[in-house]
Amino acid sequence: MGQLVVNGERLLANLDRFAAIGATKKGGVNRQALTGPDREARRLLAQLAVERGFSVFQDPIANLFICRKGRDDSLAPLLIGSHLDSQPSGGRFDGALGTLAAFEVIETLEDFGIETERPVEVVAFTNEEGCRFAPGCMGSTAFASRTIPSGWSSLRAADDGAEFAGELAATLQSLPGAGMRDLGFPVFAFLEVHIEQGPSLEKEGLPIGIVTGIQGTRWLEVTLSGQTAHAGTTALIYRRDPFHAAVNALGSLFAAIMPSDPAARFTVGRIAVQPGAVNAIPQTAAFTIDLRHPSSERLDEMEEKIRAVVHDAASAQGCEATIRQMFDMPPANFEAGILSALDRAAQERGFATRRMLSGAFHDALFMNRVAPSAMIFVPCRDGLSHNEAEHVEPEHSVAGCNMLLAAILQLPSLVIVTG
Ligand code: GLV
Ligand code: MN
Ligand code: MN
Repeated sequence: MGQLVVNGERLLANLDRFAAIGATKKGGVNRQALTGPDREARRLLAQLAVERGFSVFQDPIANLFICRKGRDDSLAPLLIGSHLDSQPSGGRFDGALGTLAAFEVIETLEDFGIETERPVEVVAFTNEEGCRFAPGCMGSTAFASRTIPSGWSSLRAADDGAEFAGELAATLQSLPGAGMRDLGFPVFAFLEVHIEQGPSLEKEGLPIGIVTGIQGTRWLEVTLSGQTAHAGTTALIYRRDPFHAAVNALGSLFAAIMPSDPAARFTVGRIAVQPGAVNAIPQTAAFTIDLRHPSSERLDEMEEKIRAVVHDAASAQGCEATIRQMFDMPPANFEAGILSALDRAAQERGFATRRMLSGAFHDALFMNRVAPSAMIFVPCRDGLSHNEAEHVEPEHSVAGCNMLLAAILQLPSLVIVTG
């Protein structure tokens, strides 16, 4: 039998089909976690699975599993997949590509009657993005730790204030036919295809990146409190203006953090002042910080610097500051064994590759704590992601999917070819 290849047309048609769910006017998607569109995408995947004779399961955090049986179903499954939720103005490939490429791989195994020793399962993890409910990677975090942190149930959605517990229950109920599984069942290995979300592969003309690890991320929520007062009558010496303190702190931090360390990433993506009247000094100014670096020590140092700068800026304006860590994702390195399986797969398929570190976080970071995990990147136009204009050339989506198929066939003790 010749080299096994996926059905590229079917993959591209599925990408279009899912991109229609939560589609935005500018060609992207808004399919935030645990919303109606997220449930609709999950229902479509479950429906496609049932049509192909695969079984469908969810776990208590609503991770969705599509199971293709192996010859010995007592063996831990190989998991492949990603996520279906998106940013509020997200692209059609972030998450969906990895989930649908994984589904295409099990459809291909089915098409060619390839029997595997152990089950191969597709997973769509819950709330990878973390923008509606923080933290991100809730599904893989809960899976890897076999527990749902108690604080999550009362979280409120950033967009409509809905409570997490209710949104999770409604999402689970939207797939009444799915079987229920425990969190954190044993997994043989995990592989995730994803768009690079950066410019390197496109610039270097490479179709595939082999991801060696994921840099660390820390999210902070800063709240500065002052005194709300009349905008027209309050002279400078009487003001305790938390927004002024925020601007000063952020001015210093933008000037200090990234310019002094090319590997550092410092982003303020959400800012709000209360009560939000044009003619009142705010009572509070709150903002988030997304801080990233490949080194945990540097993350510690940068967080310390942020805390000092924010407290100084607050006291200079007669304000108070509280800084809460929303989450801390230490960096991860993938194992050499699974990376060499990816190298062999690329060589077999003739894909030019490079090894690279992921600047974005992914579910693979958490799965790597419980099973050998790795990622395959494909290029995206202008390196753009978390943007409705996100674009992957069709041949690169198909290449990523063929690379995933080739990679699973390289994993020892997985495959018996009977097709
Ligand atoms: C994932 O979406 C990230 O923010 O890295
Ligand atoms: Mn993603
Ligand atoms: Mn994302």
